[in-house]
Amino acid sequence: MLGVELCGIKLDSPLISASGILDEHAESMIRLLDAGASAVTTKSIGNLERKGNENPVIAEVACGLLNGMGLPNPGIERFAGEMEIVKRKRANSVIIGSVFASSAEDFAILAKRMESYGASAVELNLSCPHAKGFGAEVGSDPQAVFDITKEVKKKVNIPVFVKLTPNVRSIVDLAKACEEANADGITAINTVRGMKIDVESFHPVLSCRIGGLSGPAIKPIGIRCVYEIVEEVDLPVIGVGGIVDGKDVIEYMAAGASAVGIGSGVYYRGLEIFGLVRREMEEFFREKKIGIEDIKGIAHRR
Ligand SMILES: Cc1cc2nc3c(=O)[nH]c(=O)nc-3n(C[C@H](O)[C@H](O)[C@H](O)COP(=O)(O)O)c2cc1C
Repeated sequence: MLGVELCGIKLDSPLISASGILDEHAESMIRLLDAGASAVTTKSIGNLERKGNENPVIAEVACGLLNGMGLPNPGIERFAGEMEIVKRKRANSVIIGSVFASSAEDFAILAKRMESYGASAVELNLSCPHAKGFGAEVGSDPQAVFDITKEVKKKVNIPVFVKLTPNVRSIVDLAKACEEANADGITAINTVRGMKIDVESFHPVLSCRIGGLSGPAIKPIGIRCVYEIVEEVDLPVIGVGGIVDGKDVIEYMAAGASAVGIGSGVYYRGLEIFGLVRREMEEFFREKKIGIEDIKGIAHRR
């Protein structure tokens, strides 16, 4: 009832786990799959191990979370072991390998490694807002997005998704660069730059001062970005940002998303979120007497 297809990959629902939440270790990725995620996006993995930023790296704010993790990860070499365990224990699972780098060449090397580890697709993280020299610092320029995507497309045979930042004047210009470089799809959005200050000490709360806002607070921004991209670009979009219930997914799909990513929602509703959202969607379709195939992009025709 909820099955979708994404670049030829069959998913039993549109509910993918977004990069960065319980996806650095095999056992937690398996828990996401067992909880009902139709695919797991890995933590963004770089060339070398990174410790990330000093604590505090996470803070709760009204209707959202602020994080400034700084891309901690074990490095691509060591990540092989985690992928191997997931592929062995859950043979048919769909894993989207997320990678980050500072040059097109390194992105291509990392993407190739993810392919060799058995990833079904790669996601290029061109959008992290709080890691110097990486993420949005390289992904805010359409020319850089084009060059990186083109280089990766030359090297891998699995679908390539490019994850875009909303912290730019025009996300559509970035999406057009992806399309020109032959990307297979777009993931939108990563977190929105934000900040929290402790009014007792007057210290910025995050060690890196400015971080990325996620959760319900950013859903209208995510919806707007997906809608704008789908208006202008003919690529499948994974909609991400602020999804906590079934109607949030319906809204993203009405804006034109082919599938969605759930990140902070796991913090709000636990791992059960995947099963709960699935049931909420089924109930919505039953009540309205429509199917999932009826809603994709419907808001563009209203
Ligand atoms: C703690 C945390 C860590 C994250 N790490 C990554 C990451 O490594 N790579 C990435 O592309 N996005 C990362 N994200 C961004 C999410 O994948 C997602 O794009 C964003 O949080 C918006 O979705 P949400 O509101 O469902 O959380 C992270 C988000 C959070 C909250």
